[in-house]
Amino acid sequence: MAAQAGFQDDGERLSRDELAALQLTRLRATLHRVYERVPFYRQAFDKAGVHPDDCRSLADLSLFPLTTKADLRDQYPFGMFAVPRSEVRRIHASSGTTGRPTVVGYTDGDLSTWSDVVARSIRAAGGRPGQIVHIAYGYGLFTGGLGAHYGAERLGCTVVPASGGMTDRQVRLIEDFRPEVIMVTPSYMLTLLDEMERQGIDPRTTSLRTGIFGAEPWTEEMRREIEERLDMDAVDIYGLSEVIGPGVAQECVETKDGLHIWEDHFYPEVVDPLTGAVLPEGEPGELVFTSLTKEAMPVVRYRTRDLTRLLPGTARPAFRRMEKITGRSDDMIILRGVNLYPTQIEEILLRTPGLAPHFQLRLAREGRMDTLTVRVEARRESDAALREAAAADVVQAVKAGIGVSVRVEVVDPETLERSVGKIKRLVDLRTTDRHPTG
Ligand code: DLL
Repeated sequence: MAAQAGFQDDGERLSRDELAALQLTRLRATLHRVYERVPFYRQAFDKAGVHPDDCRSLADLSLFPLTTKADLRDQYPFGMFAVPRSEVRRIHASSGTTGRPTVVGYTDGDLSTWSDVVARSIRAAGGRPGQIVHIAYGYGLFTGGLGAHYGAERLGCTVVPASGGMTDRQVRLIEDFRPEVIMVTPSYMLTLLDEMERQGIDPRTTSLRTGIFGAEPWTEEMRREIEERLDMDAVDIYGLSEVIGPGVAQECVETKDGLHIWEDHFYPEVVDPLTGAVLPEGEPGELVFTSLTKEAMPVVRYRTRDLTRLLPGTARPAFRRMEKITGRSDDMIILRGVNLYPTQIEEILLRTPGLAPHFQLRLAREGRMDTLTVRVEARRESDAALREAAAADVVQAVKAGIGVSVRVEVVDPETLERSVGKIKRLVDLRTTDRHPTG
């Protein structure tokens, strides 16, 4: 009765040394668990000539083989589970662009851990018990909606499970219920913002003060755009289904300097994407995660394909940070030998006066030449002269900054397709060009 029921979080109070000791104990337990219970890992470790007992320090993890998305797909649907199916309380799945989805499972314990890390994330973002949290991540097999939902409940918030879509109704709910916090993809936040303005609502007058945005890459320029239009703190949340879902790492509102990785549950490494060699702190490469507490489906050295680098902790000194993700290795566009990511284009477009933050990249083939057309919407107030100048500025900035020529088409406001969840920036027309009838 007297005891205040509330979210208790011991992990966040650990010192760096205590954390490292805990990580090693948990890492060894995970390696033993998967070796004993998941034939895939036993075979992979045996093939690499390593045994869980070989892991005597955290650095020894590099002796173990990396795991890929293809490995998980090969075990479709339940081959990676380390517990009997009856102990799996929930399934989620992420649909890839091709073929089978990747299936993940959670025990009761995993669902509780997940709620804890999301609750910790919402608090680090500035959310507090008692606040109203509007969740516009999709509910369903996608981990965004339900992951955010149980975390917000764990923290002691009032949850509005709006899910994605029905944009006009979302705006009405925000007006009527007056949530302080919104959790949504940054691209869908833009859709909501436009809808507010369409309904004659000044977004700055809404109750929203904290935006927890993730599930897709977004830039500092996008943060500025959203914070200005909404009078809120916009912070980044990261996660992936294979590791748990949202809540693997979170940006703290007091520093907004990249995402603290909740390392008491998820052990990060950054590797060279080509050789797989572990890179030192500060070097950019591919993020790799090993589960430390997952029961139903732990992963060992899982290659995320997300590109970032590790940095020391700031607002939460015990936890290392990851820099905001610039892109996935799969999102990289190779245009006439030059590598570029959609986020690089986003930065340039959002710095250019007259352009709205809605854009699409279209890759086509003309003869033997690949061409990239950036289609971007004009802001409502932009006239023809401003549009023309903006297009020329973008061409020039891409050439100077990225080193490649692109075409820019400035289109009318509200003509490009809007996001209701994760946005797809790139339209690759090259395959259709080659098979015009297909
Ligand atoms: O997107 C989990 C999630 C939901 C995270 C809601 C944050 C908020 P998946 O569908 O499995 O899970 O997709 C995971 O999305 O490997 C990244 O490429 C990308 N991603 C997730 N968060 C971020 C972020 C969820 N903050 C994949 N910045 C990951 C950039 C992100 N990319």
